[in-house]
Parts: sequence; structure tokens; C-alpha cells
Amino acid sequence: MDAKIIVLPGDGIGPEVTAAAQLVLQEVSTRFGHNLQLSERLMGGCAIDRSGRPITEETLADCAASDAVLLGAVGGPKWDDPRAQVRPEQGLLALRKGLGVFANLRPVRPHPQLLKASPLKRALLRGVDLLVVRELTGGIYFGERGRGLQPDGRERAFDTMVYWDYEVERIVQLAFKLAAGRRSKVTSVDKANILDTSRMWRAVATKVGAQHPHIALDHQLVDTAAMRLVAQPAAFDVVVTENMFGDILTDEAAVLTGSMGNLPSASLSGNGPGLYEPIHGSAPDIAGKGIANPVGAILSAALLLRHSLQLEREAVAVEKAVDGALRAGCRTADLQPVQALSTMQMAAAIVQRLPKR
Ligand code: IPM
Ligand code: MG
Repeated sequence: MDAKIIVLPGDGIGPEVTAAAQLVLQEVSTRFGHNLQLSERLMGGCAIDRSGRPITEETLADCAASDAVLLGAVGGPKWDDPRAQVRPEQGLLALRKGLGVFANLRPVRPHPQLLKASPLKRALLRGVDLLVVRELTGGIYFGERGRGLQPDGRERAFDTMVYWDYEVERIVQLAFKLAAGRRSKVTSVDKANILDTSRMWRAVATKVGAQHPHIALDHQLVDTAAMRLVAQPAAFDVVVTENMFGDILTDEAAVLTGSMGNLPSASLSGNGPGLYEPIHGSAPDIAGKGIANPVGAILSAALLLRHSLQLEREAVAVEKAVDGALRAGCRTADLQPVQALSTMQMAAAIVQRLPKR
């Protein structure tokens, strides 16, 4: 198969983990006889440094014209001035919005060999296999906002959470579709005791639920869900929620897997290219040292193969290779402080376990 993949390494450890993921994709390309063309563009703080903007129209157009986009991470202290008008994260939001990738899938399945890396009790982690379906192009991330001095000399700031019924409906529909291929359970997370957006969310989810009688639906308030995620994580199957709740809950869920570095994500639009990124950030504290965990990025590349290129066999091959490397005890420093592998050594350990064909 021929495919054009745009790689946006971004900032901090982004370039390190995407280099690892590209190595894996290139190797898959050779071993399975595909022609995957990978080309890099700037996005985030590095793009601000170059062009004054976190993403250019040209880069956005290249991404839109590609088969898939692989992203590292964006941001860092250099661009963190709270007064700055231009921020790296704006590039990411513009990209998500520009590609229309409203559905962010974040699977969380602790690796059996990494149970002791999690601060949670091992017994709680047994059987955990959940999928967070996070709405990605609406809500408070994209609502009207502002900050300014008022005539009385006080400063005031606001952000608005806005949802349209169709935005809720399409993400909840997808959650039900995905649940049908899993354990047939959807937990819709909201804050319906307080927020109008959540009350609409719950009504839409209930309506969609009625169209899927073979799938169990329950509603949880986000504070309860946050507690249950660490108290009884195995009880969840598919969790569907709005943008910011999903952001927060997936960092929390990452703890179940022992490290933020392990979690991949896929952002899909239903048509057009998907966007694939590990859920971790740019980790400025360890950037440039070559020690970042590339597993989240490599598993994101596997999701890219699966969802954007329909290369299921190749996706499974990458996932099995990651599994094999972890089973063999290969670890980066986030999971094992002594005698850890470097980012590229971990990538090599994974590549080495890819099937010949
Ligand atoms: C994530 C990140 C981003 C988000 C940031 C970097 C804008 O935390 O993908 O979870 O909040 O969506
Ligand atoms: Mg986040």
C-alpha cells in the first residue's frame, strides 16, 4: 500500500518519541512490502520559533491532504508565559479542529508485566481494559473566552463550555458502536447536576442508548467517575465524555498502566486523515536526554496502521512486538530507574520483535 504520513514531532520529547515511532513504521513498511512516505513538519513551540505561529496554513493543508498524521507532543517552559498571545497548544487545537477529528480514542489496558509499576494495588488492576472516547473538537476548549481589566479595576476571565446536540450524538453513537465490539457497556460521564451542557449530553446519550438495547448504558457524574476509575477500574468498558473531562480522566487512567508514557491515542473524523499521538506531554524535564518512553508513540503508530490505513495485521504485529519487548523485561527509565533502556534502544527492542513478514 502507498500512504502519505505527515509527522509533527513538536517539542520537548516529541522529536525523540516520534523518531522511535518512525523507525517502527519504516520497518513495518519494508517487512510487509508497503510504501509509507513519512515527512516531517513543524508544529507547536518549534513552529512559533520559526514562523511566529504554532501551525501554518501550509502545514495544516499538508496534514489535511495526507492519509494520517503522527504527532509527538507540544509545549514547554520557553513558550509558557501566561501573557503570551501565541501558544504551542493553539497549534494542536487548530489541527484537531482543522482535521475535524472529533473522536479521541484512548485505550487503557495495563500490561500484565507492568502491574507493579502502578501505585494501585495489583488486585484492583486485574481485568482492567477500558476505552475512553473523548469528544475532541467542542466544549470549553473551543468556546468563547476572554480576560481583561474591568472598569472597576478588577480583572475578569471566562471560558465557555458549548455543545451542539449533533456533536454529542455523533460521539455517543461512536461509543456505542465501539462497545458492541467489546464488553457491551457504555458509561457516559457528565456533570448533569450542575451544567446545562451535561444535562443535554445526558439526554442525548439516553436517546442514543435506547437505539442500542443490547448495550448497557450508565451515567456517572465526573467526580464519581474520577473516584471509581481508581477504586474499581475493571468495572469500566467504554467511557464516553466531553473534551475537558476526557482530558483529565485519561491522565488519571494512565496511572493504571504504570506510566503516562505507555498510552496511545487515535483521533478520528469519520472521513479524512486521523491524528495519532501519545497522551503524554512534551516532558521538558527529560527532553533531549534520549530516555523518554516511546511505547505510547509506537502504539499510536499501530493505531494509525489500523484506523487510517486499514492494516490490521501490521497493527497487531506492532502491538505484539511491544508486548514481547515488555515481557522480555525491556524498560525505559520511567518504569525502571536502574539499567533502563534509552528511547532508541527500546524502539530497537520492539523492531527486533516484528515478524519477518
Ligand atoms: C492531551 C493534552 C492536550 C489537551 C494539551 C497539550 C492541549 O493534554 O492531548 O491530553 O489538553 O488536549
Ligand atoms: Mg491531556
